[in-house]
Amino acid sequence: MREFRQARWDEPLIFELGGKGRRGVEFTRFFPDDPLKTIPENMRRTRPPDLPELSEVEVIRHYIRLSQMNYSVDLGIYPLGSCTMKYNPKICEEVARSPKVELLHPNQDESTVQGILEIMYKLSRWLAEITGMYEVSLAPFAGAHGEFLGVLIMRAYHKHEGNLSERTEIIVPDSAHGTNPASAAQGGFKVVVVPSDDSGCVDIEALKAAASRRTAGLMLTNPNTLGIFEKNIKEIAEIIHDAGGLLYYDGANLNAILGKVRPGDMGFDIVHLNLHKTFGTPHGGGGPGSGPVGVVETLEKFLPVPRIVCEGGRYRFDYDRPYSVGRIGGFYGNVPALLKTFAYIMSLGREGLEEVAETSVLNANYLAKKLKEVRGFQLPFDGKSPRKHECVLSLKRLRDETGVKALDFSKRILDFGLHPPTIYFPLIVDEALMVEPTESFEKEELDRLIETFKAVSEEAYRNPNLLLEAPHNTSVGRVDEVRASHPRTLTLSWRMYKKDKNALVDR
Ligand SMILES: Cc1ncc(COP(=O)(O)O)c(C=O)c1O
Repeated sequence: MREFRQARWDEPLIFELGGKGRRGVEFTRFFPDDPLKTIPENMRRTRPPDLPELSEVEVIRHYIRLSQMNYSVDLGIYPLGSCTMKYNPKICEEVARSPKVELLHPNQDESTVQGILEIMYKLSRWLAEITGMYEVSLAPFAGAHGEFLGVLIMRAYHKHEGNLSERTEIIVPDSAHGTNPASAAQGGFKVVVVPSDDSGCVDIEALKAAASRRTAGLMLTNPNTLGIFEKNIKEIAEIIHDAGGLLYYDGANLNAILGKVRPGDMGFDIVHLNLHKTFGTPHGGGGPGSGPVGVVETLEKFLPVPRIVCEGGRYRFDYDRPYSVGRIGGFYGNVPALLKTFAYIMSLGREGLEEVAETSVLNANYLAKKLKEVRGFQLPFDGKSPRKHECVLSLKRLRDETGVKALDFSKRILDFGLHPPTIYFPLIVDEALMVEPTESFEKEELDRLIETFKAVSEEAYRNPNLLLEAPHNTSVGRVDEVRASHPRTLTLSWRMYKKDKNALVDR
């Protein structure tokens, strides 16, 4: 195992650094005709904003020190299951940072932004092809935002059919990501949960019993959050369609089937994609990113405005959509994320996308096979079917035999320079530890993860306290998770901090 010590700087906040009059940039050097003078007198601030004043080198050193206390996909494996934290290719960053793009303004006249409109139009066509959908809207800013739009489209459809008052329920499996029931409830529907069967898939008999004239739709991800492909998907689609409902595909797990199978061919009517997962654009903390939504032909009229249309080789925004659910955000989506996706698909091509799926599935099965042999680990639903892009292990035995929980185990993993996997999700697995290696890591890196897991498990049997107090080698030790997320202890601004300096005493 590799030795690892994370930097531990006692770094002040940027507001506490610098000194009066220090400058990193001479504004007037770049803009000799001071642009501030063009702001009308009555709109100018009476006193300058209370911003930190630092030289360039102070700013650089501050942020480099902070970055040394952090972890990223550029540093090593990030096997956070369900989050698909893959490497973000630098070519995509370069494209999105081009001044040609950065200096665009969404209020520019359409005639001056034909290039970016063409890119977005083409991207929506590619995503439609990849998912097997008729049309795609690029507007949503995250997976959960796409889900909410999908639920609004379900509403609009049933309203149009004249039976919204009857269609009050959305079915979700008990393995679903939490955002699925949340989106359904936010859209005004009652959530009906169906259990998984002993192979980890949707229990077909329970689904039949749940589907009725009240069903507006089913939300499903395939492969599901256990990394298992729902092999009965055709029958599932039939049950929901026969009941008059729609099938919604949560595309957060598309990485497993990219270029291999299309949700549209499985019978889904609405699909969201997480570009920030499958298509290698950065994300963290549950977004922000981009969650385009695709639909079948009958639902196209409900997509949000504006739509980008192409007429005689010219592109324009179209707002004239009487059945549309309306606007779901400012302007037209997260354009840098869309550009990175465009570059990602261009650079890989069709075969490259297929290879992404093949390698991520191979890596996940390699880990599943090796990690189930770790002392105290079990692989639920083992032997029923191979995993797709991720696997979920249970640390119940480790907890029962040593008192070390999945949380403690994950904290100790940090001490070896690895990002830990997702824990306690999906909820149907006791002491769940969900590993998603993605395609972006070499075998050596996977082997290092396996060896570290084995060694940490042995530590748990030998000296559980080491794990209960972990991490030891990181910039910040074990945090009080309840306090860290309690609204009364959150210090969200410099002003709040100045008011109560004690709020950050533990930093
Ligand atoms: C299966 C699944 N569905 C939906 C989402 C929601 O996506 P986002 O975080 O972009 O809102 C996630 C995110 O982790 C997910 O894993």
